[in-house]
Amino acid sequence: MEIRKVRFEDMQHVYELAKKYLKESYTFDLILNLWNFSPNGFLVAVEKGAVVGFIIGVKTSVDSLRILMLAVDEQHRKRGIGSALLKKLQLNFPEVRRMYLETRVDNEEAIKFYKKHGFRIVDREKDFYTDGSEAYIMEKILF
Ligand SMILES: CC(C)(COP(=O)(O)OP(=O)(O)OC[C@H]1O[C@@H](n2cnc3c(N)ncnc32)[C@H](O)[C@@H]1OP(=O)(O)O)[C@@H](O)C(=O)NCCC(=O)NCCS
Repeated sequence: MEIRKVRFEDMQHVYELAKKYLKESYTFDLILNLWNFSPNGFLVAVEKGAVVGFIIGVKTSVDSLRILMLAVDEQHRKRGIGSALLKKLQLNFPEVRRMYLETRVDNEEAIKFYKKHGFRIVDREKDFYTDGSEAYIMEKILF
């Protein structure tokens, strides 16, 4: 398994993973724009030539990084791919002191995943998602 920066030819696969595994619906154009906006924060996990996971992080201030999307193909979960994507993302931004994200309050696997990586729930936001669901804000202070 290899973690690398996304390439244009990966975009369709990334879009399909996002459509399949993320509850919020994102357009192909949005994903393309995020690549343009944050080329160092958009990584894919590739196995035998296939994209099996991706992460998108964007800088929101000089020292903060917001994780916007993370998904791993169901058949490849629980093998450390999500963790490898998160770690590589962090390495790409050595100046970042705070990483944060929002997740649905009922997304137990994501909450456990992020807690395992040292994130904690710091707030919740009502009506965060387009279907009205609530989000937890989770953050990790790096240094
Ligand atoms: C969250 C997600 C990216 C994790 O990816 P992954 O490759 O399976 O994660 P890893 O194998 O690196 O897991 C690391 C740790 O996370 C926790 N974890 C991951 N999946 C879990 C699950 N289903 N239940 C409980 N804990 C889980 C465990 O602590 C695990 O460590 P362990 O294997 O030593 O028990 C993946 O489940 C996913 O794509 N979910 C759907 C999309 C999503 O919800 N994204 C997050 C939106 S904010």
